[in-house]
Parts: sequence; structure tokens; C-alpha cells
Amino acid sequence: MHTYQLIGPFAQILPMTNLGLKGAITDESLSIIENGGILIENERIHSLGKYSEMLPMAKELGAEAIALDGNDVCLPGLVDAHTHICYGGTRANDYAMRNAGKSYLEIAKSGGGIWDTVTQTRKATEDQLIDLIRQRATRHLENGITTIEVKSGYGLSVEEELKMLYAIKKANQKLPTDLIATCLAAHMVPKDYSGTPREYLEEISTTLFPKLKSEQLAHRIDAFIEESAYSKDDIVPYFTKAKAMGFDITVHADQFSTSGSAVAIAFDAVSADHLEASTTKEIEALAKSNVIATALPGASLGLGCAFTPARELLDAGGALAIASDWNPGSAPMGDLLTQAAILGTFQKLSNAEVLAGITFRAALALNLKDRGTIQEGYLADLITFPTNNYKEILYQQGTLKPNRVWKRGKLVMDKKHD
Ligand code: NIG
Ligand code: FE
Repeated sequence: MHTYQLIGPFAQILPMTNLGLKGAITDESLSIIENGGILIENERIHSLGKYSEMLPMAKELGAEAIALDGNDVCLPGLVDAHTHICYGGTRANDYAMRNAGKSYLEIAKSGGGIWDTVTQTRKATEDQLIDLIRQRATRHLENGITTIEVKSGYGLSVEEELKMLYAIKKANQKLPTDLIATCLAAHMVPKDYSGTPREYLEEISTTLFPKLKSEQLAHRIDAFIEESAYSKDDIVPYFTKAKAMGFDITVHADQFSTSGSAVAIAFDAVSADHLEASTTKEIEALAKSNVIATALPGASLGLGCAFTPARELLDAGGALAIASDWNPGSAPMGDLLTQAAILGTFQKLSNAEVLAGITFRAALALNLKDRGTIQEGYLADLITFPTNNYKEILYQQGTLKPNRVWKRGKLVMDKKHD
């Protein structure tokens, strides 16, 4: 059965089409449709154009008309391509200690750091984790995010990683938002593992990887390549196996020291994320590659570190996505739009570049080719903001919130009718 809906008119539609995956984008190249309408067929976009010109076809198809007042801007639903929203507990103590000048090592020694969250997440039941994911994804939906990547990585044993991945899968079934799971069993070397890091990774790849496939728990493998986590030499055999099994690769790369981005390029990863420490050498290599560079301004804001050199990357011809990294340690804020707007201010990004980074470029960082733009055949994931000028959105740095969200053609948030 075909169900049609015509939504509009909108003051402006930003389809985010024909902008290219890589390189700088000017605001002038956005093909804005003024007084536009969008025709939805079931869960996908059927067509878009001037509202008045779409009315006859919509009538012919028997479309339900969702008439708006013409004072909103419509964008594709936002995509958050890097989060850790499946976790228990808090790390407020780490934050206070960091601000009191304590080092990473001192914080870890006094019971903080990633291992603290591992302990707290292991204590949580699967149902509690489902509930926590639902709360966080619901807040994200209110902020216009219709697709969220969610990592494991606070289990750090086969059994505990599985608990997290089941929780993500079950939360996905209960939510309108699409959750895209990633296995981050290589987040840090588990303190309670008696073997070497290589042996731990070997166990994960032989025991957990087949389960990820057979139970469809994740098709993406991530690793934290860093002095305090895994070395390049640890990760090469791990990624080789993951790649051979057909997983997409993504990397926590160049956060504090460089080496991760080169591994991402060597394995043709879908994305290399963080890159705060990348120098011109790494940025140029990334720009030449097919790897999408994902900036995580929430981690820079949480840790008080430099931002990813996003301007340099775009000018070198690279692909830039922007994600929240929402996690209890380095990025507890979890407000993607605010963070993306702030990154734009510090890195001198155009509106178009920031919006591309949280829509189609973010979708492509997840290898999703059915969302992130408003175009025929794509998912009808749409959001509106109560303004008639799209430039207000980033200018207001996240304080202008969406007033409506459609997920797969279904109106799932409507501020006027709350
Ligand atoms: O992306 N860098 C490593 N992992 C996370 C932090 C996780 C944590 O501190 O709990 C990140 O910033
Ligand atoms: Fe992260």
C-alpha cells in the first residue's frame, strides 16, 4: 500500500544535495528551495519542489496534506556518527580532578578514567543499559538527531561487550531513532585480563566477531590507537581479521598522539575520528584518502584541548563529519548542534560545511547511503526549525531547537502539539 503525505510550505528547504563528499563548501552553493514542499511516499522522499507546484500531483496521488504556516526551515534529520551513549555511572570526579590540574595518570590511579566507566557499566543490567540509551537517544531526537552511532567499549570482555551490544540492539528496536552499533572492544587494555593486549584482541576476534555477524549485533569495528590504549602493532592483525570478515573499520585516531590516522588510511577505514593532534602531514594524507575525518568538538570542550584542524582538512580537499562523542569521560555534554556550531566559530567553517558535517557527510561516515540529504528515494528523516532563515540555526549555537522531527516519514516530535 502506498501512503502519500505532502508537507509544507516551508520558508526554506535545504536539501543538502550536490555538495560533494570532499572539500570546502560555500553557503552560496546550497540549493535552497524557498516556499518548498516535500512529498513523502511511505517512509521515503517521493519528490520536492515549490509547494504550489507540488499541490496538483499530491492531489492526484491522494496525498494527505500536512499544511504548515510557511515559517520554518526544513533540513535532513541530523546524524551523530560517533557516540558512547551506552554506559553506566558518571565521571564528574574526573572532570573536577582534571580542572584541578591532575594528570591523566593521576586520575586513572585514583580510580577514574575509562576503567571507572567499565566498572560502572559492568554493574548495570542489560535492561538498565537499554533504559539509559533510550533516555539519551530521546534527548538527541528532541535535538533533531534521527540516526545515532553507538559504541560498545565499556565491557572489555566477550561477555560484557555482548551485554552492551544486545542492549544497543534492543534499544534500537524500541526507538524511532536508528541506532548504528559499533564494536569498540579495543577501547583500552582491560585491567583484569591476564594475557597480553594481543592475546585479548585475538580472543575478541575469534570469539566475539563471529557472534557480531551471526546475531547481527554490529558491522563496524573500532579501536582506540593511542599510547595509553592500543599500539599500531597491536591493531594491525586485529583489523586485518575484521576486514577479512567484511566489517567496516573506524578508528579513534590522533587524539593525543599521531599514528592512528595512518592505520585508518592503510585499512581504508570509513572514518578516522578525533584528529586533534593531527599535523599537516596527517591532514594532507587524510585529505587524499577515502577516509572521512570526523571531528569531535565535544571532546575538545570536555577536556579543554585544541579542536580538530577542520578548516585545514577541508581546504586540503578532505571530507569532514562532525559528531558529539557523547561519553561520560571526555564529552559528557552530548549536544551535537551546539558543539558543531562552536567548532564552526573556532575553525571558520561555513554554515554549509557545518551542516554537511552533521547530515550527509556524517551519514557517509557510517556508510549509509540512504539518508543525510532530502532527495528522491532517500529516507524521509526531516527536521524543521522555527525560523525563515537557515543562518539563524548555527548563529544561535544550539539554542534554537527543532520544532518538528519526522523519522521514516512519521512525525515523531511536534513542539506545537506537545
Ligand atoms: O572518544 N578516546 C577514547 N574514548 C573516548 C573517551 C571515553 C571515556 O573517557 O570514557 C573518546 O573520547
Ligand atoms: Fe569516542
